[in-house]
Amino acid sequence: MSRPNIKIDLPRLSGELELLARLSDAEPPAVTRILFTEPDLQARAFFRGLFADAGLVVREDPAGNLFARWIGSEPNWPALGTGSHTDAIPFSGMYDGTVGVLGGLEAIRALQRSGWKPRRSIELLLFTSEEPTRFGIGCIGSRLLSGSLSPESAAVLKDNIGATFDEVRRRAGCSGELSAVQLREGSYAAFVELHIEQGPLLEQEGIPIGAVTAIAAPAALRVRLEGEGGHAGAVLMPQRKDALCAAAEIVLAVEKAARDSGRLDTVATTGICQVHPGACNSIPSRVILEIDIRDTDLAARDRAVELVRQAVAQGAARRGLDAGVERINADPPATADPAIVNAIQFACRELNLACKMMVSRAYHDSLFMARLCLTGMIFIPCRAGVSHRPDEYSSPDAIGRGVEVLALTLAELDRAE
Ligand code: HGY
Ligand code: MN
Ligand code: MN
Repeated sequence: MSRPNIKIDLPRLSGELELLARLSDAEPPAVTRILFTEPDLQARAFFRGLFADAGLVVREDPAGNLFARWIGSEPNWPALGTGSHTDAIPFSGMYDGTVGVLGGLEAIRALQRSGWKPRRSIELLLFTSEEPTRFGIGCIGSRLLSGSLSPESAAVLKDNIGATFDEVRRRAGCSGELSAVQLREGSYAAFVELHIEQGPLLEQEGIPIGAVTAIAAPAALRVRLEGEGGHAGAVLMPQRKDALCAAAEIVLAVEKAARDSGRLDTVATTGICQVHPGACNSIPSRVILEIDIRDTDLAARDRAVELVRQAVAQGAARRGLDAGVERINADPPATADPAIVNAIQFACRELNLACKMMVSRAYHDSLFMARLCLTGMIFIPCRAGVSHRPDEYSSPDAIGRGVEVLALTLAELDRAE
């Protein structure tokens, strides 16, 4: 069969996205679905049911990565992978990640309905913890799959109440050893992730599809500042070692490091600031900052990281504080494989859809799948580029076009030798 005749069941897919959005710890339209919390466990059960309905062979690994496989006529050949994540940071939106999992499922179902038969098995992946919310580092599942995070390091990651990843995953029913998670080379012939752009370019330019050429290099730091606490009324200003004032200077230095880099691709954000003891009439004695620094260029990213390290050291010395900087992660960028980009462009031509080559400023599980196999991403527009907010939105038509392109891309990759 040359080109499968794909028909996307948009009402069904939209209904599934809406149902999934309600599995959340936040009031709609916001979504909060943190790894291994009740909403996440409900979502996993929801997906297991959908995977079974589609006749897929399902397995879960010891890290909680879920795999749903459509067995091909050549079951021993390396499979074609697609998928994304369904965890959601606090008070975010309903499309980040979920479009890649439910859209990937609908691409498989549409191929099944068309009567097309794959040679290579097609496997849908639901990755554990793409977001860093619970354990401080993102992409735990895909890092373990690709050997980018050791099982030992993953096991002892702690959440904000001191529970380890190993304890939490086992409580969630993920058995077995983390050492069994890493996939061997050749497990997949290719991996393609469908995702909202999380940026404004496709919508601004009126282009329905993006073919990602590279994924920016993310780094995250945890800064600890220790000063001296005390009574807000009794301690005079010359005697103070106020950890929050030092932190404030560092937050501005983080912004300056990105703004002054001379590159629009350098971005830096202080997203977490924990103040101890956190009372209005008590001088902050300890502050923890978590800082996110990225660039598509590794050297530029690392220059910004170094400027932040210097700002911490100088600020702490000037104020007589003790400070520490922990590197949570500092990953290289990933490049999409030309074969995958070509397959996406082929699918767009078949569907008479314009396609824009672009970089991803957000990171994704594809950043680590690229260490395992040929990898690429398909972007669809999201309204005003908004993401990680309750008003994140992508239209059913935009999602439907993305799923069609994904289905044809998978069929094209299956055709290739
Ligand atoms: O932060 C990111 O880029 C991704 O959304 N976790
Ligand atoms: Mn996200
Ligand atoms: Mn995402």
